[in-house]
Amino acid sequence: GGEMNCLMVIFGATGDLTSRKLVPALYHLEVKELLPEAFGVVAVARKAYSTDQYLTHIRQKSEEHTHEIFEDAIWSKLANRFHYQPLEFDQEDQYGSLKKKLDTLEKKLESEGNRLFYMAVSPEYFGTIVQHLENQSLIDRKHGWQRMMIEKPFGRDAASARELNQTLRKVFEEEELFRIDHYLVKEMVQNLMTIRAANQIFEPTWNKDHIDHVQIVSAEMEGVGTRGAYYDQAGALRDMLQNHMLQMLALTAMEMPNFLTAEKLRAEKVRILRSLIPLAPETMENRLVLGQYEGYHNEPKVAPESTTETFAALKVFLDHPRWEGVPFFLITGKALAEKTAGIMIQYKLPMGSWSLRQTQQQLAPNRLIIQIQPQEGVVLTFNSKEPGTMDQLMTVNMDFCQNCLAGTNTPEAYEKLLLDAMKGDQSSFTHWDEVEASWIWIDHLTSWAAAHPEAVKSYPKGSQGPVYEERLKHASAWEEKE
Ligand code: BG6
Repeated sequence: GGEMNCLMVIFGATGDLTSRKLVPALYHLEVKELLPEAFGVVAVARKAYSTDQYLTHIRQKSEEHTHEIFEDAIWSKLANRFHYQPLEFDQEDQYGSLKKKLDTLEKKLESEGNRLFYMAVSPEYFGTIVQHLENQSLIDRKHGWQRMMIEKPFGRDAASARELNQTLRKVFEEEELFRIDHYLVKEMVQNLMTIRAANQIFEPTWNKDHIDHVQIVSAEMEGVGTRGAYYDQAGALRDMLQNHMLQMLALTAMEMPNFLTAEKLRAEKVRILRSLIPLAPETMENRLVLGQYEGYHNEPKVAPESTTETFAALKVFLDHPRWEGVPFFLITGKALAEKTAGIMIQYKLPMGSWSLRQTQQQLAPNRLIIQIQPQEGVVLTFNSKEPGTMDQLMTVNMDFCQNCLAGTNTPEAYEKLLLDAMKGDQSSFTHWDEVEASWIWIDHLTSWAAAHPEAVKSYPKGSQGPVYEERLKHASAWEEKE
C-alpha cells in the first residue's frame, strides 16, 4: 500500500551492518516483491564514492558475508533504487546537499515525503546526526511520516541510555523511534505469544501453581571475533542480557493482552521488567555465575588484563503474583559447545496418590520447550506407560520441528524489521520504558561485577561454560531435553 512508500536513508552505508544485514535483507525483499511501490535508498557514508562505485563495493561485500550470489536481474532492480551521498557526519554544512538530494528524489519517486532514517553507525554519532537532521530541516512532517531506526547498543547503563534517549526525543516522538532488538522478530520468539494465546492447555497453567521454573538460553560457539573493542567494554550482561534475554523473559512472563497491539504488548513487557527483583549482594554467590573463555585476552582489541564476562548464568525472581517463588534461569555465553537458543518451561510434578505410588520411580516433570535456533520447534514432554509393563513409566516427546516442514524458509530478521518500520508497526521494537527498566536492573549487576573481578571464572572454549548448575541449584541442564 501507499503508506509504506518511502525514502530510506542509511547512515553508515559502507559499514559492516549494511553489507551483512541491510543490503541482503533489501535484496531478499526485492526477490519476494515485498518492497513498496515507490521506494528509494539514499546510502550515506564518509567515503568519496560515486553511486556506481558504491554499488560495486557493497554488492561484493554483501555477497561475501552472506555466501550468496545475487542474481543480476534482481540486483539491478535494487541497484536502481540506490543513490550514494558522501557526508562527514559531524559537518552540519554538508547536510544541506543531503536535503536537496532527498527533496529531488522524493519528487521523482513520488514516495509521498515519507522518510525512514536508519542509524547503522557507531553510537557516538547518533546524537550528532539527529541534531543536524533537525537543524537542517531534513525531518519534514508536513509531507509524510518521519521514522528513525536505531541499532544497539542503546547506551551502556541507565544514565547513558537516558541521555541518548533525550537527544533522540528532542527531535523524534516515541512513535517515530524504532529501537531494534532482532530477537523480537525471530519466528519462534513470536510464536511464543501465539502458543500462549491460541492453546487453552497452556495459559491456565502458566503460573506459579503449575510451573516449577523457566530456563532461557542463548549460547554461541563463536568468540568475540573482530568486535573486541566494543565487546570488551560491554560483556555478556550488557551485550545479551539487557536486551535479548530480558526481552525473552518479558514475553514469557507477561500477562497476555487480549489484543496484541504494539501499545498493549509493550506495556505488559514493561510491567515484567519493572518487577525483576534485584539480587542482594549476599546472595550473588547463588544467583549469578560469570565466566570468560580461555584465550579471550588474545582476541584483537581486548585488554590483556580484561575481566569482562563472556558468559553469564543467573537465577532471577519476579515480584509478581503470577510468578511468586518461580526461578527464571538466564544463561548466555560465547565460545560454548553449541549454538542454541530456546525457552524451557518446566512444570511441577503431579500431586496426589499417583505420584505417591511412583515414589520408587523417577517421575519426570512435563516440559514445554520452545526451540528458537538453529532448530526451530516446540517440544512437549510427558509421561506415558511403558508398553508391556504394569506401571513402569517412560517420558515421551510431542515434537514439532518447524524447520523440517517442506518449504519453510524463515525470513531473515532484518527483512521483517524493515517491513514493520515501513508499516509503522512498533510491536517488535522496544519502547523506551522497556529499555530504561532493563538498564536499571542490569546496572546493579554490572556494578557488582565491576567490584568483583575475581567472580569471573575461566572456562575452556567449546565447553558448557563455568560450572553453574550446582551453584544456582535447580538449573536443569538444557541438554536434558532429549
Ligand atoms: C547481538 C550481540 O546483539 O546478538 C552479539 O551483540 C551476538 O554479540 C548476537 O552474537 C547473537 O544473535 P543471534 O541472532 O546470532 O543469536
